[in-house]
Amino acid sequence: MERKYIVAGNWKMNKTFDEGIQLASAVNSAMPRGVAVAVLGTPYIHLKTVGDLISENSSLFLSAQNCHQEEKGAYTGEISAAMLASVGAQYVIIGHSERRAYFSESNELLAKKVDIAIKHQLQPIFCCGEGLEIRKKGEHIPHVCRQLEASLFHLPAEDMKKVTIAYEPIWAIGTGLTASPEEAEEMHKAIRGLIADNYGENISGQITILYGGSCKPSNADALFAKPNVDGGLIGGASLNAPDFVALIDALNKAKSGA
Ligand code: PGA
Repeated sequence: MERKYIVAGNWKMNKTFDEGIQLASAVNSAMPRGVAVAVLGTPYIHLKTVGDLISENSSLFLSAQNCHQEEKGAYTGEISAAMLASVGAQYVIIGHSERRAYFSESNELLAKKVDIAIKHQLQPIFCCGEGLEIRKKGEHIPHVCRQLEASLFHLPAEDMKKVTIAYEPIWAIGTGLTASPEEAEEMHKAIRGLIADNYGENISGQITILYGGSCKPSNADALFAKPNVDGGLIGGASLNAPDFVALIDALNKAKSGA
């Protein structure tokens, strides 16, 4: 299996139904051909319609932004992994720092979400990353390693291969600050090394590791040029089609000779 290069949009809690469909249509019709694929991480209400709209496009995939950890039952307001799969979602974002912070999602809970996603054939986009205090103390690498160990490394190798990792330093999300390409590469290399220690070089070489945190057309070339940065998880810049498509172009350009 080859490593995939991915630009994944995380729309978060943005876009009414009609606005979301317009955005997905614009991305669908402008989708550049190349080595990169793109994922649209829409709110729940858009999933089915966006999925139908992009179903003929072999480079565009559908993602939810969360799922519940239980199979089904009395969890008012929640959405299960089976429900997401039933409307055509292929990916689900798990462990975004906003969910960790505002909804108290722990590493242990996220391990359960990863399991149920994989059980229902959803590929997890697993988010990890450190806050500013941790970075200032120089503890960012052990912090991220602990997140991965606690939520992912119980997986057997064949399931680990289905996981995409998104490194998102919390201090860079939605702030306009970005990790420098060197800071991103340092972390991505450490993550790949840790996966190699646990699963071997062959599997670690196949895993896609995305960078997230104020990634936009003006800084993407330098980030995507790094050998261990396999694309981006994009918030703000995924909300308009020209920027999102420019990021896909940038990834195609960066990885065409890879
Ligand atoms: P941002 O968000 O691109 O707006 O910083 C990234 C994310 O939270 O996934």
